[in-house]
Amino acid sequence: MPEASRILLSVTGFSPRRWQELLSRTRDVVTEPPMGADDPTIRYAVVWKHPHGSLARLPNLKAIFSVGAGVDHILADPDLPDVPIVRVIAENLTQHMVEYVVWRVMDHHRQGMLYRAQQPRKIWHEPRQPTTSEVTVGIMGLGELGRAAAAALLPLGFHVRGWNRTARPMDGVEIFSGADGLGAFLSGTDILVVLLPHTAETEGIVSLDLLRQLRRTGALGGAVLINAGRGKLQREADILAALDEDALKEASLDVFETEPLPEASALWTHPRVFITPHAAATSDPAHLAPAMIAQMDAYDRGEALSNLVDRGAGY
Ligand code: NDP
Ligand code: OXD
Repeated sequence: MPEASRILLSVTGFSPRRWQELLSRTRDVVTEPPMGADDPTIRYAVVWKHPHGSLARLPNLKAIFSVGAGVDHILADPDLPDVPIVRVIAENLTQHMVEYVVWRVMDHHRQGMLYRAQQPRKIWHEPRQPTTSEVTVGIMGLGELGRAAAAALLPLGFHVRGWNRTARPMDGVEIFSGADGLGAFLSGTDILVVLLPHTAETEGIVSLDLLRQLRRTGALGGAVLINAGRGKLQREADILAALDEDALKEASLDVFETEPLPEASALWTHPRVFITPHAAATSDPAHLAPAMIAQMDAYDRGEALSNLVDRGAGY
């Protein structure tokens, strides 16, 4: 294999073994980022939370591929080289996110938390069960994943509304956009699903002030938060305060300000919080590595890259 086609695979937080196995079928793969001298042999970097500054030591780097759909972990590097960044859009990842959103929405809708609390106390009590047509799900971030989630919720009978930066229409979904549209979006939302990227504009957006604007008087008897976007979108102290003052009835959280969620966090033991460990939609290397290699091959032939990140927008 020619040295010039080398890939740097730089991931932290999980084992890169499977990625390495798949990428090295066609290209030479290096897993240690250069922290000392420059490495001119590397053309592509495949990364998840790489050590900051390391990509600046690759003078012949042509493009950076994110192992995940979110690219905040890349853009956080202050010494990022000025090359295209490719993000993940994959049917398999989208399907997992749709499953997660439908699962959490249906569990809150069908009062799973109440029944799980009743069972150990052997309580035989059936609360009123609203139909889906009485409930509005509001999706913050109606992008690749948000639109797929909306498309799965509509046939179940929920009212679905979405909030975006730009007002892109979607059949059957009420669209709100920008700061001006946020208040109206929230005031009619019973279940808030957050699928935004983490950017300078969205950091900390899930605050007490925002949660207080959700509809508390709807058919579910309180507002619900589901966040599978990024932990840095939420203020965890505010979520706990919102639960305390009943601005929020329940929450499902897949992402956290600090991951893994610290043992000391009160979220772990809160009776109305359901926690998953950033597991809503994990990238599957079997699907993604071949697609990355195909993109690298095409780029080497002079063709354009797809799924490019807009650095200005931050996603
Ligand atoms: P997209 O880039 O396709 O969509 C992002 C959406 O957010 C767009 O609709 C965009 O609006 C909207 N948006 C961005 N900034 C703002 C803003 N300031 N105000 C209002 N709307 C805004 O991303 P994906 O749908 O593919 O992924 C979304 C996020 O999900 C990822 O960034 C990642 O953080 C998270 N994720 C989490 C996973 C998990 O396992 N928990 C797995 C995969 C992804 P517009 O359409 O106007 O551009
Ligand atoms: C992603 C993630 O961004 O796993 O894909 O969070």
